Amino acid sequence: MHENPKRINIMEANTIYKGLEGVTVSETKVGFVDGEAGRLVYRGYNIEDLTEHSSYEEVAYLLINGHLPNAKEYQDFTQVLRKSSELSKEVVDLIWTHSESHPTSLLRTAVSLLGANDRRADHALDKDQKDMGMELVGKIPAIVSSIRRAKDGGKYVSPSPELSMAGNMLYQSTGKKPDKTSERIMDVCLMLHADHGSNASTFSSLVTISTLSDIYSALTSAIGTLKGPLHGGANEMALKLIMKIGKPENVEKVIGDMLQKKEKIMGFGHRVYKVYDPRAKILKGFAREVTQKNGKELLFQTAQKVEDTMIMKLGSKGIFPNVDFYSGMVYDSLGFHPDIFTAIFAASRASGWVARSLEYVSDNKLFRPRSSYIGERGPKEYIPIGKRN
Ligand code: ACO
Repeated sequence: MHENPKRINIMEANTIYKGLEGVTVSETKVGFVDGEAGRLVYRGYNIEDLTEHSSYEEVAYLLINGHLPNAKEYQDFTQVLRKSSELSKEVVDLIWTHSESHPTSLLRTAVSLLGANDRRADHALDKDQKDMGMELVGKIPAIVSSIRRAKDGGKYVSPSPELSMAGNMLYQSTGKKPDKTSERIMDVCLMLHADHGSNASTFSSLVTISTLSDIYSALTSAIGTLKGPLHGGANEMALKLIMKIGKPENVEKVIGDMLQKKEKIMGFGHRVYKVYDPRAKILKGFAREVTQKNGKELLFQTAQKVEDTMIMKLGSKGIFPNVDFYSGMVYDSLGFHPDIFTAIFAASRASGWVARSLEYVSDNKLFRPRSSYIGERGPKEYIPIGKRN
């Protein structure tokens, strides 16, 4: 009998790759993380060049379409984003009636509601998927900002046509037009978090889209996955630790005690980067700038001392600051409460999720891994409910 060689391979390979660690599940042209060299690349461009010369709108377009937009493409794309960032009454009502909910849960529900109200999602064609995906890239930041606004007790703010997406994120969350520096910092934060390899939330979006489901469902899955503290959330804990330490003089003792107890210091170490995370380098510059501007220099000095201490103690093991170490400090200075940090991450990552979902489904293969059954094989005698102990 001739058997399918691929099947034999699968049957024989009884190895379990817990958490799929080390398993490659797809090819991608969207982004590349070089953990040894400390490089992050979107479609061939270094993150440093993009954050210095570009904007989040251009980066989102690049990720989704594969090239930087020309003037006409940029104008059309920004129009879609701007239009999408005006939220419907249903979404505004949802946010304001559930303003006590966790921001990431509320964001996930809002995206799901958008999908339920969009008839294109019922039988999504390729073009619809892309259109809906691009609209989500505009809508998600507006939802996140409105969640912050609702939590602060303010009224819904419509986006301003004069502002960039980053500017509108700040405007829709505070009702005040941001200064140029804050708008630029927000813009860079959005660019830095837009895509990062085959992380759990991105993978989750691929699993959903691989069933030929719609892009709203893919992003709803991704947001639910991002919510867990092992994925989003380390920046909040890093910021709280720096605040708790309080001043540089306290660093050595607190960090020394924590390391002795084998506790993890949030904002340090990375599965892929074994050198300084390039995103952390960029954010550190902003953290220094904003803390100076807001009279919170002590916070930055304490963080710097934590960094020096950690590198001295664990640098030889490849433990350096990751993106989360300085991002919390930057978001804090922009007025965001820590419980919304993960939702801001989602606002940015939406473009990466959309880009990778569209790319995956264009050469689709349904995800269907196996698990090794280690339970009883039976057959056990079936006992009717009335006779069970
Ligand atoms: N604090 C203290 N010790 C650490 C830390 C840390 N943050 N990170 C790693 N180490 C230690 C490990 O315990 C290990 O020690 P050992 O040699 O005594 O066993 C050693 O350094 C090497 O660790 P790795 O194997 O390189 O780390 P791993 O790849 O398993 O973990 C992870 C990476 C999960 C990110 C880890 O560094 C960590 O928990 N960091 C804190 C949480 C965090 O900041 N997460 C955000 C990551 S970025 C993102 O998701 C957007």
